[in-house]
Amino acid sequence: MPRLKIAGPCRLQGEVSVQGAKNSALPLLAASILCREECILHNCPQLSDVRISTEILRKLGCRVLSERDTICIDAREISSFQIPDDLMREMRSSIIFLGAILGRTGCAVLGFPGGCELGPRPIDLHLEALRKMGASIVEDHGRLLCETPTGLHGAHIALSFPSVGATENVLLAASCAKGTTLLENAAHEPEICDLADFLNSCGANIRGAGGSTIEIEGVEQLGGCEHWVIPDRIAAATFLAAGAATYSTITLRDINPQHLAPIWPVFEEAGCDLTLFRDAAVLVPPKKLHRIKHIRTMPYPGFPTDAQAPLMAMTTQCQGTSMFVENIFESRYKHVGELLRLGAHIRVDGRVAVVEGPSKLSGTTVEAADLRGGAALVVAGLAAFGETIVEEIHHIDRGYEAIERTLGDLGAQIRRLP
Ligand code: EPZ
Repeated sequence: MPRLKIAGPCRLQGEVSVQGAKNSALPLLAASILCREECILHNCPQLSDVRISTEILRKLGCRVLSERDTICIDAREISSFQIPDDLMREMRSSIIFLGAILGRTGCAVLGFPGGCELGPRPIDLHLEALRKMGASIVEDHGRLLCETPTGLHGAHIALSFPSVGATENVLLAASCAKGTTLLENAAHEPEICDLADFLNSCGANIRGAGGSTIEIEGVEQLGGCEHWVIPDRIAAATFLAAGAATYSTITLRDINPQHLAPIWPVFEEAGCDLTLFRDAAVLVPPKKLHRIKHIRTMPYPGFPTDAQAPLMAMTTQCQGTSMFVENIFESRYKHVGELLRLGAHIRVDGRVAVVEGPSKLSGTTVEAADLRGGAALVVAGLAAFGETIVEEIHHIDRGYEAIERTLGDLGAQIRRLP
């Protein structure tokens, strides 16, 4: 199994370009199913989840061409409405295809989603919303059998939680539904705006994306468009955490600093000096990192749950006690056990994790259990003394494009072992 070998402690320097957002590219690829003309997506990150998504599109009958970070999708001929179980199981976000397949074909057969182990990954909000739009959905032997005998129609939907995926599924299902859909308590994440921009470029009629209430007026059908995926704000946060944890001055390029608005105050509280440009940021660490009193993960524009693990790795190097409260997912502290093996001092009680720092980390062999937890182990390995081996790095490859190359470009001693 491939592993990462890190020789620490590393001093990083220089600049890196940040990849396109995984959590935008995936719904955009799903959205292309609705398009009757060719779509071209630029700045797509080259990740296993993206590759699986293009496989799903091909199984549905789409013609897909990938060339580096550009993906062309021709969904003129959709010949299936079923996603094979093996592909459904490979990634959590495969549920995002439901709204698009239903919106295009009126039927869908999907297995239950797989993906990261972040506690139960329910899809009740997705199903409730789609049922309100006229979908009949039967759960049978771990599969979802969905159909819309008379096609999807507009509805008034109020989500009990601003779920990112459920918001995306409603946008996809409502774009070509009969009538208007009013979605309340929608997710505000930048990826929602990116999806709405894409759909509107293809001829949809969506207003209010980025706010709590989104209105979608169904149109007859969608054309195609050329679209640039927004930068990955979580990858950016991860590399900033790596810079701070190793007391390195680094520059990130091709980012959208606005999307990191919840993150900047955390690095400032740690004592980092940040200079922001239109599409770049320079981080200069302090002599000694200050502790982060209280990080609560919240829906955007709160602190993103996906940045919790990488930032926790950084706080092992901060002076004093830092506290995290994970409000979004049930069990998103799987990385704590592995950080302890590296020598960190962390106590977990339910949703609260308390980090005592600074701790002198010593390299050892650790195992990634999920995507962002795996990235946290890499950040910690960069700061640890000696050699750190990170195993099960397929989790990391789901969300970070060749992480060893990006960090290597910043001077890290990191190699991918076969
Ligand atoms: C998206 O997942 C992201 N994934 C996640 O990133 C991210 O952590 C999450 O949003 C929150 O920002 C993609 O975009 C592909 P949710 P999603 O629906 O849509 C509960 C990463 O590391 N919930 O907003 O699944 C759910 O259990 C990944 O890149 C229900 O109860 O997130 C969770 O506790 C991990 N019922 C909370 O809501 C539902 O029907 C947030 O989930 C749906 C969700």
